[in-house]
Amino acid sequence: MVILPDPGEANTWCARQGNQGLTMGFVPTMGALHAGHFSLLQRAARENDLCCASIFVNPLQFNDPNDLSAYPDTLEADIVALENHGCDMVFRGTLSTFFPEVDDHEKIRKLDPGPLAHGLEGSFRPGHLEGVVTIVDRLFRTVGNCRAYFGEKDYQQALVVRDLADALAEDNIFISVIICPTVRARNGLALSSRNLRLSDSDRNLSSALFRALVRGKHAWSSGIRSKEELETIVADCLAKPGIRVEYAAVRDPEDWTSNAEDLMAARGFVAAYVSGIRLIDTMAFGSDRMKPDSLQG
Ligand code: PAF
Repeated sequence: MVILPDPGEANTWCARQGNQGLTMGFVPTMGALHAGHFSLLQRAARENDLCCASIFVNPLQFNDPNDLSAYPDTLEADIVALENHGCDMVFRGTLSTFFPEVDDHEKIRKLDPGPLAHGLEGSFRPGHLEGVVTIVDRLFRTVGNCRAYFGEKDYQQALVVRDLADALAEDNIFISVIICPTVRARNGLALSSRNLRLSDSDRNLSSALFRALVRGKHAWSSGIRSKEELETIVADCLAKPGIRVEYAAVRDPEDWTSNAEDLMAARGFVAAYVSGIRLIDTMAFGSDRMKPDSLQG
């Protein structure tokens, strides 16, 4: 596996592979890799001639400085794991190498993530999705034409990234955004780098996010279509000592900004703090037409 310290070299490497007609799978990460990342890497390696990844903890997307400073750093183990999961090249970078045009990071112009950033993460983490699309734009420009693999857990992120990929086609950069199913611990807890900071009892408690979504899914299967009723069912299931709920929402994934009282399709979204650690999760309630895999830009 080739390890490249900055996006300039990675761009040259990827362009060379593209010129030889090789297809590229790309897995962008912030490190602290877990089985969720490995499933993305394995799929990227399987579906493409080559597979590359990035590791960059992007300060632009952290609205809470404590969250940034507490973000786990497991670089050595990550490099070994990438190599073991079929990665051919990994690149890193710094704000200065990703944004060489500015001499001061404060001057980095954040991109607008568009209408799909309204609500949920967009409301509760101001500036977060702006920071994500701003760095993913640079990551995509570095790698060039590719299939890019994202986890379903960060569903709203995937939606805004898909819009970004559509916009990049105007610059002749063609990216297919492929959303892959959430990988879960045995108790249902969605895998996340942040889980490293949870104690064993926190992990047990945190599986309530999954259970609340399953409850919502059952309610949907039993015929409940009222958005309010579904949200109440999910929220009630999450209301437990030790869990500070930020949102328990149900949205029509095909009509994101809809205000309809009754939903045609539904996906549940939850965000909650356990011991000060912010966790999110999501689940399709019905067989929505927009299956994760079909979200290709
Ligand atoms: O999902 C993540 O790990 C990050 O948001 C991403 C896509 C690597 C951008 O920094």
